[in-house]
Amino acid sequence: MEVRGLVIDFKVRRGLLRAVDNLNLEIYKGEVLGLVGESGCGKSVLAHAILRLTDPNEIIRSGKILFEGRDVFSFSEKELREYRWRDVAIVFQGALNSLNPILKVEDHMYDTVLAHERADEEEIWRRAASLLETLRLDGKLVLPRYPHELSGGMKQRVVSALAMLLKPKLLILDEPTSSLDMLTQKYMVRMLAEIKEKTDITMLFITHDLAVEAEIADRIAVMYSGDIVEIGKINEVFYDPIHPYTKALIRSVPSLVGDVSKFKPIPGPLPDPVNLPPGCRFHPRCPYRKDICSKIRPKHEKLENGRVIACHRWREINEE
Ligand SMILES: Nc1ncnc2c1ncn2[C@@H]1O[C@H](COP(=O)(O)OP(=O)(O)O)[C@@H](O)[C@H]1O
Ligand code: SF4
Ligand SMILES: [Mg+2]
Repeated sequence: MEVRGLVIDFKVRRGLLRAVDNLNLEIYKGEVLGLVGESGCGKSVLAHAILRLTDPNEIIRSGKILFEGRDVFSFSEKELREYRWRDVAIVFQGALNSLNPILKVEDHMYDTVLAHERADEEEIWRRAASLLETLRLDGKLVLPRYPHELSGGMKQRVVSALAMLLKPKLLILDEPTSSLDMLTQKYMVRMLAEIKEKTDITMLFITHDLAVEAEIADRIAVMYSGDIVEIGKINEVFYDPIHPYTKALIRSVPSLVGDVSKFKPIPGPLPDPVNLPPGCRFHPRCPYRKDICSKIRPKHEKLENGRVIACHRWREINEE
């Protein structure tokens, strides 16, 4: 999957809101790419755009999204139907509340498959049960149940199984653990990591919680104000963050810092997306800013090891 120079605005009462701002990203076959950033930075808008799911007030200004080299924006309705679920499936943010309360879990499974292919119910049932088993749920117990008879953690696994039912090449998980308690969260991430080991599925794992990525992602992309400011292998980014925002983000997660005295929340809020600051979007909050930062937007530099960084001063800062 390749995203090239994507720019997305929303028409809002106050004017134009820039949600995705000249974003470039690649997702490689077989990897789990983590996408992190504070709430409101544009993660979900990007995920929906990948599936070409847009709101009526949404304007795709420019850019391209390519899946296996094919231009997603040029798909016909028919191509789009096949692309969604079969090529790329998504577990929406807050999806555990999206199950239809009057349908049993098995009916959700039948409807999902039958909307895309011919199959008999028995076969779908078997497929669903085997998927649920990899998610440590007993199909015999769960499939005949109604959503309200399941716990939050069980519902989250059911919606994840639904998304995986058609064996998508790319699975997008949008904050799949944020509404779960800590223990269930850990359990869910461990199961997804196991699925990743056992299959050749590719995942885009979106979260605002950097600590969760450590358990599952191969690479991580750090998003700020609609753009990716740093990308790299998970260990490299965690142990040696280069971009000032990544450094700040890591210091703001207590469980990553270890030593509580080093824990530091990031000062100030995300900039107003209707009125973005000029130059580097992070400059109003950046302790390293210099004159150039508020004037010129930093370019994305690709380093030898595949690391991508967008900061005027990253070399000087990291020499200090
Ligand atoms: N339909 C919409 N209309 C107006 N603004 C929107 C709409 N959808 C998203 N936004 C705005 O786009 C920005 C990015 O949102 P989102 O992608 O949901 O953030 P997150 O990173 O938390 O997933 C936010 O400022 C949000 O308010
Ligand atoms: S470009 Fe300047 S303001 Fe932006 S992150 Fe780098 S040092 Fe900070
Ligand atoms: Mg979101």
